[in-house]
Amino acid sequence: MATPHISAPEGAFAPSILLPGDPLRARYIAETFLDNAVEVTSVRNMLGFTGSYRGTAVSTMGTGMGMPSASIYLTELTRFYGVKRLVRVGSCGGISTDVKMREVILAIGASTDSGTNRTRYNGWDYAATANFDLLRAASDAAAAMGIRTHVGNLHSSDLFYNTYQNSLEVWKRMGILAVEMEAASLYAIAAEERAQALAIVTVSDHLVTGEETSSAERERTFDGMVKIALEALRNTPEPGA
Ligand code: HPA
Repeated sequence: MATPHISAPEGAFAPSILLPGDPLRARYIAETFLDNAVEVTSVRNMLGFTGSYRGTAVSTMGTGMGMPSASIYLTELTRFYGVKRLVRVGSCGGISTDVKMREVILAIGASTDSGTNRTRYNGWDYAATANFDLLRAASDAAAAMGIRTHVGNLHSSDLFYNTYQNSLEVWKRMGILAVEMEAASLYAIAAEERAQALAIVTVSDHLVTGEETSSAERERTFDGMVKIALEALRNTPEPGA
């Protein structure tokens, strides 16, 4: 069975998946962290792999950037391929000065300026929230590894180059920790499809201080986030299990 955007047979994906935005990051995760990983899809170069991590079957696949792209892959993975536990591993722009460069945020919720969740939710405001079991497992795994995390609200933006003038002030006022572009849809799709989801993001640039990371630094911090995600997946039971 193939879907319009995934060319894999039924059963090609594990119930647990790691979701970077960049498909080459999915390949890196497969090659670096998974045992016996095989490529299962490559439509539009949106690469997906399945292997195992310490005995637990795990897949990884890119989502592309932004909620419209991510929504396509996330819906097909959950609705047609039986994916039940989804962890985004991505980067974000820091908003709160409490979060420092390269620190990790576990998103308990994701606010958004996107119309995608309003469209899903009858024009109302859906509270896009993480799965508690995954969040707790990620928090525990990070603590065990000595990695500091922040738990709070992200803003999932439709525009990377956003031009509305007061957005930063609004985000700061509402206690938003950081901005990224996928978490709100991830949480809403997981709710619709009865799956569990968590977004883990690392601060790659800071909108208030103006700091930026080099790509080499981003790679190093990426590994810590992936390890947290893999341990969280390994330690969270499947829904209904
Ligand atoms: N905006 C949106 N997404 C991001 C950013 C940003 O500044 N940095 C990393 N992902």
